[in-house]
Amino acid sequence: MGETLDEFAQKLQEEIFEETRKAYGEAVFQRWLTPRFMGALPNADGKSRVTGKCGDTMEFYLKIANDRVETALFWTDGCGSSTACGSMAAELAHGKTLDELADIDGELILKKLGGLPQEEQHCAYLAAGALQEALRDYFAKQRQKGE
Ligand code: FES
Repeated sequence: MGETLDEFAQKLQEEIFEETRKAYGEAVFQRWLTPRFMGALPNADGKSRVTGKCGDTMEFYLKIANDRVETALFWTDGCGSSTACGSMAAELAHGKTLDELADIDGELILKKLGGLPQEEQHCAYLAAGALQEALRDYFAKQRQKGE
């Protein structure tokens, strides 16, 4: 008996997953499949919306308590790699002091993900840029409060 459409679809999905895992590595694959800290914070202390040259957009939301990141969430309409990069950036941001947060850049995100193909490395810089923009927004809001 031939395979059903469901079985065919299931097999196809498994093949795609396997190829993605092989091409991108486990860290990227897991975050592409199940991104961590994806969402929006309505009352963020700092937030950003950055569109990269590729046309993809990423948003970052930060909740800061006692000069540390209590919560960091991201959102993107971009590719799988940008989702993995946003997820890693948010993971790295959690619990960091503001100084430590300022040190999270595209290179660190790429390193923690085990790298990305050359043509997708800009996704990490978009994630880092959006995270740093949310930090700048936080500082700007703090200054406004102090005035
Ligand atoms: Fe633009 Fe990934 S292709 S962020």
